[in-house]
Amino acid sequence: MTNGFRDKLGEGGYGSVYKGKLRSGPFVAIKMLSKPKANGQEFINEVATIGRIHHVNVVQLIGYCAERSKRALVYDFMPNGSLEKYIFSSEGELSLSCKQIYEISLGVARGIGYLHQGCDMQILHFDIKPHNILLDENFTPKVSDFGLAKLYPTDDSIVTVTAARGTLGYIAPELFYKNIGGVSYKADIYSFGMLLMEMAGRRRNWNSSVDSSQIFFPPWVYDQFAEGKNAQIVEATEEESEMVKKMMLVGLWCIQMRPSDRPNSMNKVVEMLEGNIQLLHMPPKPFQYSQLAMQTENGIKKRSLSNLSGACMDSLTRDISGR
Ligand SMILES: Nc1ncnc2c1ncn2[C@@H]1O[C@H](COP(=O)(O)OP(=O)(O)OP(=O)(O)O)[C@@H](O)[C@H]1O
Ligand SMILES: [Mg+2]
Repeated sequence: MTNGFRDKLGEGGYGSVYKGKLRSGPFVAIKMLSKPKANGQEFINEVATIGRIHHVNVVQLIGYCAERSKRALVYDFMPNGSLEKYIFSSEGELSLSCKQIYEISLGVARGIGYLHQGCDMQILHFDIKPHNILLDENFTPKVSDFGLAKLYPTDDSIVTVTAARGTLGYIAPELFYKNIGGVSYKADIYSFGMLLMEMAGRRRNWNSSVDSSQIFFPPWVYDQFAEGKNAQIVEATEEESEMVKKMMLVGLWCIQMRPSDRPNSMNKVVEMLEGNIQLLHMPPKPFQYSQLAMQTENGIKKRSLSNLSGACMDSLTRDISGR
């Protein structure tokens, strides 16, 4: 089924992913979980829940394997891989049209909205980022890796269960600071906002190889809009530049520091993305530089070393090392 695990697709915080083929024909992606919870029954219960989830914008789980201490999840194979390849490619040969990027952002928003409100239970993702958005043969986006947070043991010393999840650059501030607000679905809205900024700008939010004022993209975009400029949107047609501007404005609303300032639901986010740009007000400045510096200096450094679990540390170190 897996060709001896020779065809490795990639590796993340939870384990390695291999390409396989079912006897009945279709290709699959098999995620071998490293260090999962010991209890096989819990794993099976959790998988049964994840397996009941069906939505065009969510990757379909089609099976699992729990044999002695081994745990694996089997998903539909997504031939176009993950989104980061397309939005961060400098060469252009992998680039998607502006309309495609916009449609992808809508699909992702609908997928997360379904996890939050459309199925039997509310599923919070906590790791929305370009790597976890997979693309099928038609470039329909599929949210992947939802529900995995629950399959992992958590460290009791962590303030909130969820503090151990997420990836630097996309984690909502309330996962670090108790005084900002409780942890809720709004943390996913924040991460989606960061993703939206990257999709609109086709660059990483943190990029040290550009002009110093633009190293951190969101506040720079905010300042450009506040000054009545267009944040260097270079799209060819008016329709395209409007789509990009809309994505940026909605992104700025989603990444507000305080959860209560962000849109009230992912369905609202979809509505904002689809609606008329004239209806979008300028959001408050998402964060002051000092708050941000505090987040990176005190928050991430101090907490990552003492409190964050292995899975998160892996993604922190991976991302810091330039991924
Ligand atoms: N269903 C799938 N179809 C095709 N490729 C996949 C599939 N699932 C995962 N992959 C590939 O495997 C890579 C590794 O996935 P994995 O989820 O382990 O890591 P990640 O998404 O980079 O990080 P994280 O552990 O935080 O999710 C992905 O970037 C993707 O390219
Ligand atoms: Mg993933």
